[in-house]
Amino acid sequence: MTDKTTHFGARTVREDEKAGMVRSLFSDVANKYDIMNDVMSMGIHRIWKEAMMDWLAPRPGQKLLDVAGGTGDVSFKFLARAGSGHATVLDLTEGMLVEGRKRAEATSLADSLTWVSGDAMALPFEDNSFDVYTISFGIRNVTRPQEALNEAYRVLRPGGRLMVLEFSQLPNPAMQKAYDLYSFNVIPRMGQIIANDYDSYQYLVESIRNFPDQETFLGMVRAAGFANAKYRNLTMGVAALHSGWKI
Ligand SMILES: C[S@@+](CC[C@H](N)C(=O)[O-])C[C@H]1O[C@@H](n2cnc3c(N)ncnc32)[C@H](O)[C@@H]1O
Repeated sequence: MTDKTTHFGARTVREDEKAGMVRSLFSDVANKYDIMNDVMSMGIHRIWKEAMMDWLAPRPGQKLLDVAGGTGDVSFKFLARAGSGHATVLDLTEGMLVEGRKRAEATSLADSLTWVSGDAMALPFEDNSFDVYTISFGIRNVTRPQEALNEAYRVLRPGGRLMVLEFSQLPNPAMQKAYDLYSFNVIPRMGQIIANDYDSYQYLVESIRNFPDQETFLGMVRAAGFANAKYRNLTMGVAALHSGWKI
């Protein structure tokens, strides 16, 4: 047992409790995750993931590790753009991987995908194993995000690329205030009405608010060892992409 604490949404919890709470939350939503993602974001998450692919520019034959990959959204897009290659989807929640595998079986991509249970902070892979590491709307949920970035650096081969897609902060304070009002008042209520699940969506908005802003996270990417680290805002900073290279 540890005395160290962390955030679980607005709550302060022991560090060693958080992964179990995150797993339980995503186990509960797994079978409605894809549809809820579309409804709650009004489809915008798809545009952000395409922007991620535009910047990443997947190439034929590349080996992707998609951490916190859930139902495989990013991996499917990556393989479609690359034309050939392999994607390993790692996630803490078995139920999310089960949904992803079902999706893969309905496509011609099943042989190009591997589904692995695991934690972003302790990846079950050798050093220098992958060309590309992605984590999309995942790192916010990880107990110690810096450890996940350090692991990303370890498993990427020299010349490998990191790309993080995550909710972020709006640089304009008035707009951030308006966005907070909307997200804290509307999103959990929509979650209650559409999925009969207020708490998961309350966690979502609180975890977004607690996550470091673009510049702070950029510092963490650099601290993990990544070179040429940069970010791009999406939808005025509602989300951001961070990119870095292992050289
Ligand atoms: C919001 S979903 C994102 C899924 C997918 N990447 C996407 O963009 O649609 C967050 C995922 O992160 C996973 N997750 C949370 N903490 C994790 C950790 N420490 N290691 C690996 N996966 C984790 C959850 O199980 C969940 O599937």
